[in-house]
Amino acid sequence: MAIESSCDETAAALCVDGKIVSNIIATQKIHEQYGGVVPELASRAHMQHIVPVVSEALKLVRSDQWLVGNHPVRLGGGEGRSPVSGLSSINAIAFTQSPGLIGSLLVGAQFAKSMALSLNVPLIGVHHMQAHVLANLIPERKPEFPFLCLTVSGGHTQIVLAHAPLHLEIMGETIDDAAGEAFDKTAKLLGLSYPGGPLMDRYAQLGDPLKFSFAEPQIPELNFSFSGLKTSVLYFLQKQTPAFIEENRNDLCASIQHTIVNILMKKLQKAVKQTGIKQVCIAGGVSANSGLRKALQEIGVEKGWQTFIPAFEYCTDNAAMIAITAYHKYLAGEFIGLDAVPSARG
Ligand code: KG4
Ligand code: ZN
Repeated sequence: MAIESSCDETAAALCVDGKIVSNIIATQKIHEQYGGVVPELASRAHMQHIVPVVSEALKLVRSDQWLVGNHPVRLGGGEGRSPVSGLSSINAIAFTQSPGLIGSLLVGAQFAKSMALSLNVPLIGVHHMQAHVLANLIPERKPEFPFLCLTVSGGHTQIVLAHAPLHLEIMGETIDDAAGEAFDKTAKLLGLSYPGGPLMDRYAQLGDPLKFSFAEPQIPELNFSFSGLKTSVLYFLQKQTPAFIEENRNDLCASIQHTIVNILMKKLQKAVKQTGIKQVCIAGGVSANSGLRKALQEIGVEKGWQTFIPAFEYCTDNAAMIAITAYHKYLAGEFIGLDAVPSARG
């Protein structure tokens, strides 16, 4: 069983033999009114959500019927195995150990430790960004190693070369803002509420991506920069009237999104060229973006790549990705002690 509590989602999931059988998420709505995640409020909300979320995720353990997709399956009962039932069938507890908001991480860590202690099972600490990449191993159709993954979230933007489940190499990353921040900060300039990424995506679908053009940064190698885009959007908007911004909201969203997606896809193409690896995935909250998903599919077809995009529920923060990562750590015997501490930085 895995717990994710690194930011503003409280989540729990169960993984059986590499398959996700339950995936529960409680989103914290309280931050919307503050225009961003308030760490203290996030920790408090995790405290309120963690018991109901974990209980819901564990509901299935109380019977010997589990749902895989919509299909009930009977587990165990095979040679020498008794049907799965009760908490005693859980053989490890995993949690997000880093990176994230420390107060949020502590809630998940402490809960996971208590469960591991009471069930007398090993504890597994998971790196949140590694888990985003490995979310690509959840579906039936998965990439083969080695593969490339563009990991784009609210806190990170990375191009990762995945050699094996537990051997990831960061080939490039942002030198300032993350792609998700670029969405959220520019959306805020347009007067959209937090988190602006999904809203910008929705308006962008109704707009013209070529109506406005914003400068793309020239950053060496496989690194990214998004702070310049935010500034150029700010300077552009400062010269406009509120009525102009309102009237052109869809086109502005489409044009900003187009610029962000272009920046990301150019570096991804560079990484493919550099490595010769044509198994290409995306991951992280921004991989839910319809413009990015479409661009990956189109460029993939054009260039002969095999592309992989996680289902929406596995893009933004979730515990299924923590569970699949923990599954591989379990197989490798990578456990931590009850004295392990979470850390805000990776
Ligand atoms: O991975 P995630 O859920 O949390 C972090 O680990 O940061 O990513 C959250 C980020 C936010 O910046 C949010 O605006 C962005 O993902 N996001 C999107 C979309 N859905 C979520 N950005 C653009 N388009 C979307 N559809
Ligand atoms: Zn995340």
